[in-house]
Amino acid sequence: MTAAASWPRLEGLAYGGDYNPEQWPRETWDDDVRLMREAGVNIVSVGIFSWAMLEPEEGVYDFAWMDDLLDLLHANGIAADLGTPSVSPPAWFFHRYPDARVTDKDGTVMGFGSRGMASHASPEYREAIARMAGALAERYGDHPAVVMWHIHNEYGVPVAEDFGPRAVASWRRWLEERYGSLDALNAAWGTAFWGQRYGAWEHVVAPAATPTIVNPAMKLDWARFTDDQLRECFVVERDAIRAHADQPITTNFMAHQSWNTDLWKWAELVDVVSDDHYLWSPDPDAHVGLALSADLTRSVAGGKPWILMEHSTSAVNWQGRNTAKRPGEMRRNALTHLGRGADAIMFFQWRASRSGAEKFHSAMLPHAGASSRVFREVVELGGHLQDAAQVRGSVVEADVAVLYDWESLWAQDLEWRPSDDVQFRERMRAFYERLWRDGVTVDFAHPDQDLSRYRLVVAPASYLLTASSAANLTRYVENGGTLLVNFFSAIVDEHDAVHEGGFVAPLRDALGLTVEEFLPLREGETAEVRWTRGAEAVLPSDVWQEDIALAGAEVVAENATGPGAGKPAVTRNEHGEGVGWYVGTRLDVHALKTVFDAVYADAGVEPSGLPETLEVVTRHGAAEDFVVAVNHGDDAARLPVAGTDLLTGAETEGELEVPGGGVAVVRTSRESGGEEV
Ligand code: GAL
Repeated sequence: MTAAASWPRLEGLAYGGDYNPEQWPRETWDDDVRLMREAGVNIVSVGIFSWAMLEPEEGVYDFAWMDDLLDLLHANGIAADLGTPSVSPPAWFFHRYPDARVTDKDGTVMGFGSRGMASHASPEYREAIARMAGALAERYGDHPAVVMWHIHNEYGVPVAEDFGPRAVASWRRWLEERYGSLDALNAAWGTAFWGQRYGAWEHVVAPAATPTIVNPAMKLDWARFTDDQLRECFVVERDAIRAHADQPITTNFMAHQSWNTDLWKWAELVDVVSDDHYLWSPDPDAHVGLALSADLTRSVAGGKPWILMEHSTSAVNWQGRNTAKRPGEMRRNALTHLGRGADAIMFFQWRASRSGAEKFHSAMLPHAGASSRVFREVVELGGHLQDAAQVRGSVVEADVAVLYDWESLWAQDLEWRPSDDVQFRERMRAFYERLWRDGVTVDFAHPDQDLSRYRLVVAPASYLLTASSAANLTRYVENGGTLLVNFFSAIVDEHDAVHEGGFVAPLRDALGLTVEEFLPLREGETAEVRWTRGAEAVLPSDVWQEDIALAGAEVVAENATGPGAGKPAVTRNEHGEGVGWYVGTRLDVHALKTVFDAVYADAGVEPSGLPETLEVVTRHGAAEDFVVAVNHGDDAARLPVAGTDLLTGAETEGELEVPGGGVAVVRTSRESGGEEV
C-alpha cells in the first residue's frame, strides 16, 4: 500500500457538504445532483449516519444503494468523501451488545434512539467498527468517486466519557501503564490530601459522582485517558481502511468548540485536517470566533491547507435562539475560512431533512427549495470558489503565536478555582480579538513548540504550564522574543499541582516577578488601572487583581482601585535579548489595546491600520499572493492593494473599494507590495 496523499484528488477548491440521500426517495437524488452541479458542488460527504442501512442485520450488508449513489455522483463529476458510520451504531447492535452503551457519571446507561452512544471501551464496538470500515474500504477503495475517507463524526460529542465497568477497567490499565507503580500514582495525584491514598489498583475508581469535588489531578488524567481512548478508536478504523485504500483519511474536528480532544495529538493521526464550525448566535461578533477557530485549525494542521468540513448556510437548530444569517453573511463566513487557510468549503448539509432532530437546521438546499435566497447565495459562492481556484495550496504566514493547550483548558475548567469569572475561552477570545481587530495575523502554538520564528508570543490562558514549557518560553525571551502573559498562567504542573516556588515561579526569570496572592473581585465589581508608560491612561478592569512580587520587572500600570489598589497591574521585564510582559488584571478587548500597542512596539509587530471591520488575510502562493478581504461593516472600506480581484475580474492599481458586507480575493504579484497588507 502506498502512502496516502494529504489532499483529496480534486480540481480547484473543494465545495460541497454532508449529503444524506438515504432520507429521500431515489428520484430526489437525480434532482440533487442536478442542483449540485448548478451550484458548482464537487464533493459531498456520504454515509456518516448510514450504518443501519449498510448493515441492516449483523453481518448482512446492503451496499446496493451506496453503489448506486457513488456511481451517480461519479457520473455527474461529483466526488465522495466516504464516511464510516461509527458514530451511530444501529438498534440491533445495542440490542445484541447492551454493554456497549455509555454510562454517564451518575450511573445512567444511555439508551438507543439518538446518536453517538457507543462506549470506546467496548470490545464489541471496536470489532464492529473495524469490520464496517474494512468492508467499506474493500468495496469502495478503488471506486473513482471516492477521494477521501471521513471517519466517525466529531469525536467527543455528544458523549466522550464513559463511567461503565469496562471503561473503568481500561482506565486502571491506562494508569498502570502511565505510572508503573501505585506510589507514582499516589504522588502524582497528591492522594495524601483528604486521605485518598490507593493501596491496590483495583481500588482506583473513575471520577464519577462523589460527595464533594473529585481529586483534580485524577480528573485531569481522566480527560487525557478519555481522549486517548477516542484516538484509539479512530486508529482502529483508520488501519482497517488503510489495508484496502489509499485515499487521504480525515475526521472532522471542532477546533475551539471541542473540549474532549487534544487536537495537537489528533492532527498527527490524520492525513488531512478538517474542521466544523458554527456561529454562536448570542455573540454579535461571532465572526471573530470563526476566525479564531479557522486559525486554530490551520495551526494544528501545521500550516497546511485544511478542509472546512461543516458550517451552516444560515441558522442552526441547537442553540436557544437560532439566528438566521443575513444576506451575504454566509459568503463572508466562507471567505474568512478560505483566507485563513481552508481549501475546501463545505456545509452541514446539502438538503434540509424533513424529519428528525435537525429539520430546522439550514441547508444548501433549504425546505424552500432552489428558488430561495439561500440557494441563490449557495450558487453564487460556488462560482466565487471556482473564480478563486488559484488560491489553492497557498499558505498563511504569521509573526505572532498565541499559546493554546487543551491540557491547560481541561485543568483550568476544573472546580474550585479562585474565581468562576476566570475562563480559558473568555481570555483566549479577548486576546485573540485584540489581535484580530488590529489586523495582526496569528498562528496558535503549543507551549512546547519551537517558537523562534515568531516576533511575539501571547499566553492568554496558560494555567497549566509544565516546567519544560516554561523553560521553552524563557529561552524564547532570552533569545530576543517578546512574550505577553496573562494572569492565572504558570500556576500548576502536569498534575495540577502548584509549582514549587509559588504562582508564576517557572516564568520568574522571563517576567521578572512571581505572584504572592490572588485578589479576585466580587461578581460585578469593577476597578481601574492607571497606565503610566508613555501617554497616561485610565483603563477599566474587573474580575481579578493580584499581589505581584516584583523580581526585576518594571511596573507600567498599577491598580488605582480595588483590593489590589497601588499594586502592579501590568509589568514589563527585559530578559536576555527579549522582553516579558505580564498582565495581572482582567482587561477587556478595548482596554487591552493600550497594552498591545506597547507590546507591538517591543516586538516589531505592525497593526494593519485598516478599519477594525475590514478583515484581511494574505495567503502566500509560489509566485503570487492572494489578499482575502472580508468587510463586516455596513460601509465600503478602502484596501490598499494592487492586483486583480479574482471574484470580479477588476484590476486595481493601488486601492480596492470593498463594499459594505462585501468580499474580495485579490491576486497580487510579490513585487507589487501586495503582501504588505
Ligand atoms: C455538527 C454535526 C452534524 C450536524 C451539525 C448541525 O456538529 O457534525 O452532524 O448535527 O452539527 O449543526
